[in-house]
This record gives sequence, structure tokens and C-alpha cells, in this order.
Amino acid sequence: MNGLYDELVRYSREDYYPFHMPGHKRNIDMLSMVNPYAIDITEIDGFDNLHNAQGIIKQLSGRISKLYGAEYSYPLLGGSTAGILSGISAAVGRGAGVIAARNCHRSVYNALAIRELKPYFIYPGKICGTDIDSGILPEQIEEGFRLNPEIKLVILTSPTYEGITSDIRSIAGIVHRNGALLMVDEAHGAHLGFHKGFPESAVRCGADLVVQSLHKTLPALTQTGVLHLNRKELNTRLENYLSIYQSSSPSYLLMSGIDICIRLLEEHTGELFDRYYRMLMDFYDATGGLKHLKLLGGDKAGIPGVFRKDPSKLVILSDKAGITGSQVYDELLNSFRIVMEMKSFDYVLGITSICDTGEGFLRLLDALKVMDEKACGCKTLHSTPQVKTQVTPQGTPQSAVQGTLKYTVQGSLRGEAQGIPREGLAVTGYRPVQALPMHEAMARKSTPLGLEDSQGKVSAGFICIYPPGSPVIVPGEIIEGPVIEHITAAMNAGLEITGLCGDNKDMLDIVF
Ligand SMILES: Cc1ncc(COP(=O)(O)O)c(C=O)c1O
Repeated sequence: MNGLYDELVRYSREDYYPFHMPGHKRNIDMLSMVNPYAIDITEIDGFDNLHNAQGIIKQLSGRISKLYGAEYSYPLLGGSTAGILSGISAAVGRGAGVIAARNCHRSVYNALAIRELKPYFIYPGKICGTDIDSGILPEQIEEGFRLNPEIKLVILTSPTYEGITSDIRSIAGIVHRNGALLMVDEAHGAHLGFHKGFPESAVRCGADLVVQSLHKTLPALTQTGVLHLNRKELNTRLENYLSIYQSSSPSYLLMSGIDICIRLLEEHTGELFDRYYRMLMDFYDATGGLKHLKLLGGDKAGIPGVFRKDPSKLVILSDKAGITGSQVYDELLNSFRIVMEMKSFDYVLGITSICDTGEGFLRLLDALKVMDEKACGCKTLHSTPQVKTQVTPQGTPQSAVQGTLKYTVQGSLRGEAQGIPREGLAVTGYRPVQALPMHEAMARKSTPLGLEDSQGKVSAGFICIYPPGSPVIVPGEIIEGPVIEHITAAMNAGLEITGLCGDNKDMLDIVF
């Protein structure tokens, strides 16, 4: 039987085209390195120390901060995950109040639990007619501070996995007027700020801390990232936490991968991003003629609830074609040898980068044309029946939403609610009720329970639909009907769900 290495080598010789991360796209015509064993060292003289950078690694940090326009930049070798854990830990003391967008990555929740922070969750809406999160609106942040004046930190994801950005400049103004710090998870936006066709980076929009995964959208090796800091006074605390959350044997291979990526941007940004943007726009123009399959943002019109849509993310909507996201994903893979980044209920997502080729875009375009021709054009039926429910939230401090909410569940937590109404923007109405602080629920004894039997019980774990991995339920929250329906719908749609337990991975971990 082949081992992992043999399998990777075998796969690298096949002709699958990657519309997924890492952003280097295995483009070995564009990128190269010597034999990895030749440059894999430890902290020997002349090569500095990531955890006490004074030489060549400090220079690399300086080059990164100059390129992105940050006060300080720290290379990350544990991905954005390490940056998020370190940044949140450095920004506020144990037990502080924070505003967190509910669609934050799992690492944000881990930081909230480890540091015993008190989260006030802000829920993004859904872009109408889709299951895709909108941006977070400035007025939602205003409202968060009005209800919770003790907040010390705001954490948002922008852009999201699907390339949806929030108005970071306005949000930064609100956060700072309220005496708090703003941290932006820009894991999916390391390529922002290099071309006017893409949204601006949060680094230049007033955010205090910005974390980016270089490996997701730029030519860099997996696990590499950058944490930018625009608050000088935090740097000692931040460096302490970076030493806690990252290995004491940081990989020189990965660091040299960061160096190669930064050098490429320093020397060739203009030509690389001009060519890339032209290829993207040609692709959006060419797909505009499809009858049933549609690209989000492809018509270049504004999308309600979206500050800007990053064109690098190809969000292919399938519901009007009468096929599910899984079907599109499988067909692209099996019939056209195109590997997409992820599938959801009724869309698939492709990640592009400056390392994509014209041949790759053409292969995807041809495949979509064939699939569009074959599509029946009837609307996709979700696998769960539509359920209408009325709930009155218990009004815990964390989920203080006023009034009675009406929501519909249609294969996902979507619907209408009293919230911040915006024309064309559906605001999700369901808010789980927090019965125990997250860290306390995680520390309690727990037991696995079947899905149906879990109704009304308190979750001991996170349940995330992966990717992108933002949680449906977090430890300490009460499991109610819509959560069970959402998990069931995700199972029926063949999506990956993390956090389930039991031999068949079909049970929930419940606080004893
Ligand atoms: C929004 C978001 N933030 C953070 C992360 C973590 O990034 P990394 O894999 O670089 O640790 C991810 C990973 O998918 C993500 O989607």
C-alpha cells in the first residue's frame, strides 16, 4: 500500500485542476524551491529566531509591514489560527466582553473559551435567495455597543469564505469611538490591497489587528500567514502570546516560503495582478451568458448587505439549475477533473489566485457551459420540508434580541426576523440561547445523545458545517428544533459536519 508521500506524488502527476487552496495552485512552472531537505534547519547562527527576531526574520517582518502598510507584521507558521489565538489573547484581559460575528472561524471560539471571554454574538444576514452570509453592518456594531457598553474588542471575518466584505472603515470608526479594539479575520484576504479591482485590505481601513492566511490566496505553503498590528502598545503582549501558540521549532522551510511569496509581490505585483484581474473579468463576462448556473457578483451589480464582493472567489449558484451544490461539485470532479474548494446546499465555491492559468479558467468555463445546457432550469428542492416556527428568545445577555422572532428553516438557518432590515437582505432570525458560559460547558462531564433526544439539552461541543466551519451550535447553548433540522439537512445534503460523536458520528455531545 502506498504511504502518504507516494500518494501525493502520484496525485501531483494527475491532471486535476485545483480551484482550491493553497494559492500557489501547485504551479511549478511559476514557483520553485531547492530540495526541501537542503534548507530545513534550526536556529543556527546567522538565521535569527522567530521568537526573538533581531536579524533576517525581523527584516522579513519589516518587508511584510511595508508591503501591506501595517505598523508591525508577524509571520505566522500556525496559519491564521495561531494569529487569531494570539491576537485575541493579547488584545483583552481574561473575562472581557467582546463582540464576535457569529460566522467567525472555530479558532475565534477557541480563543473565547480559553480566555473565558464574554461574547455578544452578531449574526450576519443571508444574501437573498442563497444560503450565503452577508457582511456585518455598521449599525449592528452600533447596536452591539448600545446594548453592551463594556465591550473591549470586536472580531469580524471579512472577507468571508465566499468573498463578502464588510464596511471595515465605518466599523473601525464606531469601535474606536467606543474605546474598543477591532480585530479583522482576513484569512481569506491576503491578496487584497494590491489591485483596485479587489476590495481594500482591513490593514488600511483602520483595523487594529488583522490576520491573513498567506497560503489560502497567495503563492505560499500551507500553514503560513501574517498577523498585522496597528497598535504599537500591544506588541510585547502579542509577541508573548505568539510564542505560546506557535511551535518553539518554527519551520525554516515555511518561513522561506513566506519570503518567496513576499519577494514575488515586492517585485511583480503590478503585472501579476493585472493579468489575474483580466482573466477573472473575462471569466465573469463569459459566464454571464449561462442560463441557469449563475455566478454571485457576476452581474457586477451591488448585492444588498455586501460592502464589496471579492471577485477572486467564484461562487457558482446552482439552485436555479435544479441541481444541488454537491451535484455540481461531483460533476466537475468526475467529468471534468476540476476540484473545487467546497460545496454547500446550493452553491459551490472556487478559490482563484495569481497562480491560476488561462487553461484552468477555460476548463471551468467549458464545464459550466456543458452542465448549464444539461440543467433542467427548475428550482432545487431542499431536502428538508419548510418549517415555520415562532420563538420568544430567553434574552440572555449574550443573545439579547428584542421581541418575538419569526423564522423559517429551509435546509438551513435562514429567514426573516426583527433585526436590521435592508431591502433584499434576509436577516437570520434564529438565535440559540446560551445556558452556560462556553468554557464552563466544555469543562463539564458530557455524554453522547441521539439527535432527536438532544432537543432541549445543553451542548458540550461545537457543531460546525465544514467548510467554512462556523458553528451551528457552541458549547453551553441549548439545542432546539431548528438546530436539529439544520444538522439533519446538512447530513442529507452530504456536507461534512464536525463535532458529532458516537461510533457512527451521528450523536451530539451533551452536558451531563
Ligand atoms: C475565516 C477563517 N479564519 C481563519 C481560518 C484559519 O486559517 P488557517 O487555516 O490559516 O489557520 C480559516 C480557515 O479555513 C477561515 O476560514
